[in-house]
Amino acid sequence: MNLIIMGAPGSGKGTQAALICKKHELPHVSTGDLLRKNIADGTELGKKAKAFMDAGKLVPDELVLALLKDRIEKSDCKNGFLLDGFPRTKAQADALGKIVEIDIALNLDTDLNKLADRMASRRVCLKCGYSTSAELAPDGKCKECGEPLVIRDDDKREVVENRLKVYAENTAPLVEYYKAAGVLKNIDGMQSIEAVNAEIEAILK
Ligand code: AP5
Ligand code: MG
Repeated sequence: MNLIIMGAPGSGKGTQAALICKKHELPHVSTGDLLRKNIADGTELGKKAKAFMDAGKLVPDELVLALLKDRIEKSDCKNGFLLDGFPRTKAQADALGKIVEIDIALNLDTDLNKLADRMASRRVCLKCGYSTSAELAPDGKCKECGEPLVIRDDDKREVVENRLKVYAENTAPLVEYYKAAGVLKNIDGMQSIEAVNAEIEAILK
């Protein structure tokens, strides 16, 4: 199963991807997570990507494409994977289509005006990548490894505004792209995490 989970910043892609991948034993391929790992490790790619990410802009296609290709060529992706945050432009979608066939593109449909609040309360673990919200982690500690949770660099209000704008301009048109390809499944992303997951599981059955 080659899956994509699409949706605006803060729509719940990472949250749902973690649940889907655990249940279906699929590798979770998040270009955002891979880029943040490169920044944390101080790689050349990380150095190039950081300024774009901190400004809420897209990292150039050629950099992300190389990163993505490298990841999905690894043996754990042989029997399928879930892409989170990729593709984000038509050029990325075209390039992806030349490498693999996509079976289902899950689209988390959300009200863009309500997502800034979700991102303001997101808390992440820089050590293991665990992500949650301030409400769900009142002790401020990672449930997986106990490290202190922090606010993501690009979750500041002004950066979030730009990310939402960039999404509307560059990535939202991919909903039509995958609809035309006959693989799009729309999900109401404004429900609770559990209800969104139940809708996804009904589709994956
Ligand atoms: P990326 O890391 O992919 O960020 P994003 O797309 O902006 O999405 P987020 O990770 O912010 O949100 P999410 O949808 O995963 O939501 P989450 O589940 O965490 O990309 C970051 C940057 O990297 C980009 O801006 C760009 O610069 C670069 N980049 C990455 N990929 C690229 C590419 N392909 N091309 C070019 N550049 C690229 O949930 C958010 C919060 O809401 C959490 O606190 C969560 O607990 C909560 N929540 C989740 N679901 C619900 C719900 N149903 N109800 C209430 N709260 C919920
Ligand atoms: Mg995410």
